[in-house]
Amino acid sequence: MDSAHCSSMLQALFFLAFVWFFNYESVDGASSTVKMGNFSKVEDAVNFHIYYGQTFKVIKNAVDGQSYLLLQNNSRIASRTKYCTSRIKSFVIPLSNFSVDTDSFPVSFLEHLGLLESLKGITSDTVAAPCVLKLYKEGQIEKLNKSDYQMLTQFSAHFFSDTNQQPACNFATSVPFSEDTPLQRAEWIKFMGAFANVEARANQVYTTVKENYLCLAEIAKTRTSFKPTVAWMKYDDGVWSFTKEPYNLKYVEDAGGEILDASINKHTYNVSDPDDLEELHAILCTVEVVIDETLTYDPVNYTSSTFIQNLNVEDRSCFSFLTNTSLWRYDKRIQSSSLDWYNGAVSQPQLVLADLIEVLFPTGNYTMTYFRNLVKGETPINIGPEMCDRDTSSTMDPTIVPCG
Ligand SMILES: *[C@@H]1O[C@H](CO)[C@@H](O)[C@H](O)[C@H]1NC(C)=O
Ligand SMILES: *[C@@H]1O[C@H](CO)[C@@H](O)[C@H](O)[C@H]1NC(C)=O
Ligand SMILES: *[C@@H]1O[C@H](CO)[C@@H](O)[C@H](O)[C@H]1NC(C)=O
Ligand SMILES: *[C@@H]1O[C@H](CO)[C@@H](O)[C@H](O)[C@H]1NC(C)=O
Ligand SMILES: *[C@@H]1O[C@H](CO)[C@@H](O)[C@H](O)[C@H]1NC(C)=O
Ligand SMILES: *[C@@H]1O[C@H](CO)[C@@H](O)[C@H](O)[C@H]1NC(C)=O
Ligand SMILES: *[C@@H]1O[C@H](CO)[C@@H](O)[C@H](O)[C@H]1NC(C)=O
Ligand SMILES: *[C@@H]1O[C@H](CO)[C@@H](O)[C@H](O)[C@H]1NC(C)=O
Repeated sequence: MDSAHCSSMLQALFFLAFVWFFNYESVDGASSTVKMGNFSKVEDAVNFHIYYGQTFKVIKNAVDGQSYLLLQNNSRIASRTKYCTSRIKSFVIPLSNFSVDTDSFPVSFLEHLGLLESLKGITSDTVAAPCVLKLYKEGQIEKLNKSDYQMLTQFSAHFFSDTNQQPACNFATSVPFSEDTPLQRAEWIKFMGAFANVEARANQVYTTVKENYLCLAEIAKTRTSFKPTVAWMKYDDGVWSFTKEPYNLKYVEDAGGEILDASINKHTYNVSDPDDLEELHAILCTVEVVIDETLTYDPVNYTSSTFIQNLNVEDRSCFSFLTNTSLWRYDKRIQSSSLDWYNGAVSQPQLVLADLIEVLFPTGNYTMTYFRNLVKGETPINIGPEMCDRDTSSTMDPTIVPCG
């Protein structure tokens, strides 16, 4: 390590210590003398924290240990300070322009916050968001080559999710998918809000979403009827496996379902192995609902016969999820092979929960947002720019599901 680098590291560490000290001062003590702006408090998410000073904020990302020093553009500190070390980076806020890695950053956060007009670059044009597609088509958003780092440095910030790489000073890691529960993921809207000084809006959206989600979960909790057993499963290269992601299991629990027994779904099932197949067959006879998560580049062509073909079981007479038409995929809303499940569903988990409640306890009087029924032959909806039905500079409100 050369001495220049070393001293800049030291300087940065001193600065951070100062920031921490200052933070406690301003929040706990001198509130009468220090004017606090709007701020976000992280309640549920575990992988980021925000601290506030008078003219700056610090976001700490727990996954990669990075700290982002956000300096208000009208402060003296913003003109004097620039950090770009392996642990600390500075950004002048509010960001006037930025780009995102659309494979890992839900642009729906930007829509709720009303920030689409500052979004100038995306890494793929198959984004499942009508208004982003519209701005792209009009030339207001540019498509960037995600392996060309030089190209990704042209805006004030680039949001992506690779915690192992920090190729440039304007890269900020945003990792909602690192969280284990739906609400924790949705709260990452506050991470984005801090970069644009729209904390008030971020808080409002998250509170609305959370209240609606908890209300739906509360109703499901008081349900005394039979709890259907749900299997999330996927097929890959001749092998089926049951998903045990805490995130998926939390949804089932909150919707009032039963998760396929954890002691069963331990291993993978090779469909070419007769013993494996026999065991898979037996387990599936105990399941009421199947959610097929198999990855495909062609969701439109993924039908119940694809599932049956991959399953390779001849006698399906005991599969109540087939006779009872409860075989689902979460690719109802897509743009080509990109799923809105990884975009809009992240910021609005209350809609996913409402869908799942309908999957488990059908009323027949509900329109699914994210799930499609394979047995009933439902096909995905392909999202296009013409579906953008609002002013692109406006904020998008969360959809509230009637509850109670
Ligand atoms: C806080 O947010 C509200 C609503 O966006 C805004 O009217 C107000 O000026 C903000 N206050 C501060 C101190 O930034
Ligand atoms: C700071 O940002 C605000 C909002 O984007 C902008 O109106 C203002 O001109 C900026 N001020 C400076 C000094 O750059
Ligand atoms: C993207 O950038 C990489 C690295 O610079 C380059 O090798 C590749 O050809 C570029 N791809 C396209 C489609 O331009
Ligand atoms: C992005 O915003 C910064 C800060 O306002 C500005 O200096 C820069 O030119 C903008 N970049 C582009 C590509 O518009
Ligand atoms: C599945 O079993 C077949 C037959 O035993 C074997 O050839 C194949 O490699 C196995 N596949 C995997 C992914 O283990
Ligand atoms: C079939 O679904 C209905 C709800 O639509 C449920 O009441 C019933 O228990 C299910 N039957 C089986 C065998 O899973
Ligand atoms: C679906 O599959 C058929 C036959 O394999 C093919 O002709 C068609 O182009 C596919 N559809 C899409 C949307 O790729
Ligand atoms: C169907 O849903 C609508 C809107 O939630 C409600 O007004 C209506 O009463 C429901 N119909 C039945 C038969 O439950």
